[in-house]
Amino acid sequence: ERLVIAMDGPSGSGKSSVAKAVAQHFGLAYLDTGAMYRALTWYCLQQQVDLTDADAVLAAAQNFPLSQGTTADVEMIEVDGVDVVEAIREPRISENVSAIASNRGVRDLLINMQRDAIKNSGYRMVAEGRDITTVVAPDADARILLTASEEVRLARRGLQLGGTQNNEQLAQQVSARDAKDSKVNNFTEAAEGVTLVDSSDLNFEETIDAVIKA
Ligand code: CDP
Repeated sequence: ERLVIAMDGPSGSGKSSVAKAVAQHFGLAYLDTGAMYRALTWYCLQQQVDLTDADAVLAAAQNFPLSQGTTADVEMIEVDGVDVVEAIREPRISENVSAIASNRGVRDLLINMQRDAIKNSGYRMVAEGRDITTVVAPDADARILLTASEEVRLARRGLQLGGTQNNEQLAQQVSARDAKDSKVNNFTEAAEGVTLVDSSDLNFEETIDAVIKA
């Protein structure tokens, strides 16, 4: 029986860990679409593509040798056989990913790859990102927008990065990326039919419960 769960949310909303837990709860495959944009950013930097050249970025995307796992418990992402699981979380990637994600042609390519992944799962998958509920899988069986107050999001992101970063610097980095992202698309507005789950005052278990019930 098909069960496609689409989950969107901004940085630090906890969407990745919640999406993985929900996938495990229902025995579903899992797709991190942000990791795809990150991996393409890694590839463009590695190929020394001029990120301000939209055509060059698109050409790189057309030859993007990505191999991505779809299980919630083990993260597998390779570009041309190189394991990039850790490299795609580096600040140099976070700083440049919006430039890649704002390229219309690139988005069309990755959206197609994402739809193929959902299809290949036999329509049994949790897919998470910024435009899954609205663009990639508006026909999903459940669509959730996970939000949290800015304060809570920054605190969570800080913890995720090991709590070693200067808070003010981190706040600036995250809001700069949010601003760049929202220039292209308002990824954080709940579209019609999308259930809003605000996790500001919920712990991890409570958030998962709220999503499972949605
Ligand atoms: O680190 P964070 O959880 O904020 O983001 P991510 O899910 O790893 O996604 C990284 C970047 O990819 C975002 O800042 C967006 O620019 C882009 N993205 C997108 O445009 N569409 C998606 N469906 C997922 C990510």
